[in-house]
Amino acid sequence: MSRLGIFVDRKTLSNSEQLNALIRCRDVAETLGHTANFIFPVDIHKIKKMDAIFIRARTDPMNITYVAAQMARFHRIPVLDDPESIRCCSDKIHMYSRLIRENISLPKTVFLSRHDLNVERVTRLFDELGTPLIVKEPSTSFSLRVEKVSDIADFFKVAQRFIKLSDWIVVQQYIESKYDWRIGVLDGKLLYACKYTIPSVTFKIQASVNGHIVYCGVESVPPEKVPLHVIQLGIDAANAIGRGLYGVDIKNNNGDACVIEVNDNPSIESGEDDCYPRVFETIISHLFAE
Ligand SMILES: Nc1ncnc2c1ncn2[C@@H]1O[C@H](COP(=O)(O)OP(=O)(O)O)[C@@H](O)[C@H]1O
Ligand SMILES: [Mg+2]
Repeated sequence: MSRLGIFVDRKTLSNSEQLNALIRCRDVAETLGHTANFIFPVDIHKIKKMDAIFIRARTDPMNITYVAAQMARFHRIPVLDDPESIRCCSDKIHMYSRLIRENISLPKTVFLSRHDLNVERVTRLFDELGTPLIVKEPSTSFSLRVEKVSDIADFFKVAQRFIKLSDWIVVQQYIESKYDWRIGVLDGKLLYACKYTIPSVTFKIQASVNGHIVYCGVESVPPEKVPLHVIQLGIDAANAIGRGLYGVDIKNNNGDACVIEVNDNPSIESGEDDCYPRVFETIISHLFAE
């Protein structure tokens, strides 16, 4: 019997859906004949007693999840997400550079430092990438520091806020779409696919509107209903990062698919896997097969 450690952090557990998904994951592990232990940050020393670690908490190289991934790696215990994937996906400069190097299709993407923040350069950007533009602070997650700007004044307001947090900011061509594809990939294979429908009041899958958080709709989609080139792009983008578990966001405008981002630790708690009942089984079996 093997021991699965599910690393969780109450600080980043924010709803009952997440809790239910954790319990489902534990139950699947037990059905497969393993023991499953939730490991909280105070119990991090228990990692070395496990045979595999599945991190299900918000990953960030600056928080305890990264220490957990490193500890597992140090003790040669299979771990999802691995430390390299956490590092790469948590920094959009790093992630997009990797995707560009591997020739993965992206919206037109430019990195700017504070020295580039002048009217001449920004005017040129609007000419080259079009209007509006998307501006991102590289460590953003949950759409928090992603903004759409339509003129130079707007651009500077956002850019000056973001450049206080990072040496570089990301500027992208705006790709219009009603939904993002989310392609779940494990070890280079399709794990699940769903659509995240963008709320009509925003352009992001999640946003704060008048003090309220609005969330995207989630619709699990069976593989035969996902365009083949979208699945392939998801797999190629995931492989550009590593062989772990990723959620790749893709916009497919008029058949011209491009990657918006690769997420490590994708959420599997809001119905993403409704058409894929074996997602946790596949993840757990993969961990113990390593
Ligand atoms: N180039 C783009 N064009 C149009 N919408 C975008 C673009 N980039 C991001 N978005 C929207 O903003 C959301 C958040 O952007 P993303 O890059 O995923 O940042 P985060 O890591 O904060 O989630 C995406 O899910 C997408 O809906
Ligand atoms: Mg995102």
